[in-house]
Amino acid sequence: MITSKKPISPDLFGIFFEDLNWAADGGLYAELVQNRSFEYSVADNKDWDSLTSWELLERGGGMGAVTVETVSPLNDVNRHYAVLTVKSPGVALRNTGFDGIPVTAGESYDFSVFAKATDGSSVALTVRLESKNGTLLGESSLPPADGEWSRYTATLTATGTDPDARLAIVPSSAGTVALDVVSLFPHHTFHNHGLRADLAQAIADLKPKFVRFPGGCLAHGDGLDNMYRWKDTIGPIEQRKEQRNIWHYHQSVGLGYYEYFQFCEDIGAKPLPVVAAGVCCQNSGASVNGKWGQGQLGLPMSDMPAYIDEVLDLIEWANGPVTSTWGAKRAAQGHPEPFHLEYLGVGNEDAITEVFRERYQMISDAVKVKHPEITVIGTVGPDPSGSDFDAGWKIANELGVEMVDEHGYKPPQWYWENVNRFDAYDRSKSKVYLGEYAAHEHDRANTLRSALAEAAYMTSLERNGDIVRLSSYAPLLAREGHTQWRPDMIYFTGTEIVLTPNYYAQQLFACNHGDAYLPNVVTIPAGFAPLFASSCVADSQSGDVIVKLVNGSQSVVTAHVELSLFGEVAATATRTDLAGDPDAVNIFAYPKLVIPVTTQVAVSKSFSCEVPPSCLTVIRLRTR
Ligand code: AHR
Repeated sequence: MITSKKPISPDLFGIFFEDLNWAADGGLYAELVQNRSFEYSVADNKDWDSLTSWELLERGGGMGAVTVETVSPLNDVNRHYAVLTVKSPGVALRNTGFDGIPVTAGESYDFSVFAKATDGSSVALTVRLESKNGTLLGESSLPPADGEWSRYTATLTATGTDPDARLAIVPSSAGTVALDVVSLFPHHTFHNHGLRADLAQAIADLKPKFVRFPGGCLAHGDGLDNMYRWKDTIGPIEQRKEQRNIWHYHQSVGLGYYEYFQFCEDIGAKPLPVVAAGVCCQNSGASVNGKWGQGQLGLPMSDMPAYIDEVLDLIEWANGPVTSTWGAKRAAQGHPEPFHLEYLGVGNEDAITEVFRERYQMISDAVKVKHPEITVIGTVGPDPSGSDFDAGWKIANELGVEMVDEHGYKPPQWYWENVNRFDAYDRSKSKVYLGEYAAHEHDRANTLRSALAEAAYMTSLERNGDIVRLSSYAPLLAREGHTQWRPDMIYFTGTEIVLTPNYYAQQLFACNHGDAYLPNVVTIPAGFAPLFASSCVADSQSGDVIVKLVNGSQSVVTAHVELSLFGEVAATATRTDLAGDPDAVNIFAYPKLVIPVTTQVAVSKSFSCEVPPSCLTVIRLRTR
């Protein structure tokens, strides 16, 4: 039995962001134009090409054609561009957005494009927001494009609301014009930093202490040429190197490292980037014709010094002074102050092989020598047990890895059965980042039952907050109709958001975190133990004590809360219940079937409280 107060990591509850399920392009990144740089290809998705989500319209006698060329590109990394030839005006090149372009009457939209006339003429362009059937919803004219690539901008104000609008570029005369990086953003984005305001706010409302990015498997990539390379994702958007997404779509990398770090700052969370450990995903190529591909590969040893420099440069870019090479690049992008990077993940769920070990050690040694202030987080495979898990922990013990990233997607019952898992962990060994977890049910996703299993597990994270330093549910976001992985925490369309019971469970813990665990506060009658979990934490900043009670059973449980040892308690407390049918889920048609309900309740230093069946109860007591 634990008898004394235990410290809890200040960063225990964070979030895991992966560009999966269209979480970035078509998701958090507010760009409304899909395939804006004409860089989509069959490598992204077997049904895609450079003109995916673009359509050519010939209206009112208009005649023309569109081709994609690479002869005279904007720059070397952004090679494809569209060439629109107009024989007779009335031709429009339209973008269909991500399942349409949602526009709202009275809202402004910021348009930009790189254009040049390629036939010696000068071509004036009109930009239109229009409904699918062509009804005008706002327009603006650009100055005539001449023979050099130039960037043109316009602001469009929507005259109507349409969740399924189009963006049309309409040359007003005959001629040939080349177009690239066609972009449209809502003028209003989160903190004016280019992220979708409603989604970013939903994430901010989780009050995460850190944000892990860019993945998941996306970080180590599908083959060595697909690793996420952070340097390709900073600077002006037209100079970023786009690439295929391991989840079978495309990364514009418009949401790149600068935006990730800036978002962390905007929501008061610490950045936790994960870089590949010099190896690609062990499942690389698995999807090719349904056959296994080449699997895990390591960067050639001759490439490792440059790769290690890339990792060290990331730390300098995030934290270095403006006088440093990479700090200067951060400043040039608009952020002279450091981003205060503390954590760096090296590797994600990698198969623990000699190829991995060698490269991991080279990277982590180099970081430790040059940046002892950075906590390097290692990896122990995809499962909370098994050969990679054991081999990963062995390496962690041998190398003295500060923290390891444990993952596990298991049925709800597993979380209940493993609620004591971390109690037995050796406190002298590596600390734990529970980097990916979620309760997976065989045929359902995001039931209240799954959220309660996760909540039960979270009580154990609090109890073991001295060793489990960080945790994050995964994955975070999923666009309806483009979801490669379920369950997820937040589902969205172009205009709507559904918060799952799992979201609310995470939010209740993160918004009611403490810095000390108080043992032996809650007792329950015999017989409920397998499906009842609890924790009690103190928050020294507010002086509050927070009791969390998770009832996974189908009976009311009367819990006794004993706080006599811990000082004064105010007579009323705030109680929040997340309760309902264990099978209940929130869906777009019924987004609020399971939501937290808050009331004021009478309490004392020693009180009983009834916890309904299938319920997470959080009681926040004031002690000052
Ligand atoms: O969270 C989804 C995927 O699950 C991640 O990309 C990977 O790390 C894990 O297998």
